[in-house]
Amino acid sequence: MTVTQLERRVFAIAILFVLLLFGFAALAVNQFHVGLPTCLTSVKPFQKGELITHAPNHYEVHYVARMWRFEPEEVTVPAGSIVDVYVSTPDVTHGLILLGTNLNLMAVPGVVNYARIKFDQPHVYQVLCHEYCGLGHDRMAATLRVVDAATYHSPKPSPPPLATIDAGYRLLEEKECLSCHSLHADADLAPSFKGIYGKTQTLGDGSVIAIDDAYLRESIVHPSAKLVKGYDDVMPVPTATDEEVEQMIQYLKTTK
Ligand code: CUA
Repeated sequence: MTVTQLERRVFAIAILFVLLLFGFAALAVNQFHVGLPTCLTSVKPFQKGELITHAPNHYEVHYVARMWRFEPEEVTVPAGSIVDVYVSTPDVTHGLILLGTNLNLMAVPGVVNYARIKFDQPHVYQVLCHEYCGLGHDRMAATLRVVDAATYHSPKPSPPPLATIDAGYRLLEEKECLSCHSLHADADLAPSFKGIYGKTQTLGDGSVIAIDDAYLRESIVHPSAKLVKGYDDVMPVPTATDEEVEQMIQYLKTTK
């Protein structure tokens, strides 16, 4: 293959123009602090990736496709529900395809696209970008989970903290902390535990601190370290495991 003089010149000029384009873009960003353009729709509800629940069987997902991810990355809806899917993008053109269904949308800057889909059976769907959008295109994926309606609507198991809080109270009693520290009014022997967490306290050296986990932990393990103003260094060091100390702190957060 021979490349003529003219072709060489055309190549050189084309390359020169490309370099000039990038050069001017870099100059604009670095020297003149021009922000890179963003084209996310100005219609508020579509600027954020989120799942909205309208009814137990009607949902709305706002996908924001950006280089190179979908927001939200994980969506879970119950089987039997109708889902209205909206997609927008702030940067370049992306695609949104829900594998295994006929849901297929383009994500175009400044535009909101929409489709409705009904999910009958539980299934884990992959959301993929199907429009080449740059280096990370092949990584652009999200998950849409359709779960059994009964599972979705069953009440979530309540978190365990209550048990921890109870345990904390029992430990304070067991280790006789409550003989000196009152849970109600101020006691003479030791600072009260009433509303202790988060309040500010003046120490013996005049400094003022906010009572947080770290302070409580230190005061249980090394009672002499930071004495509250007006109290003597008389507290015995309780024997307690790290876990027990944590439980006591959790309880002290609740003594309003
Ligand atoms: Cu986004 Cu390809």
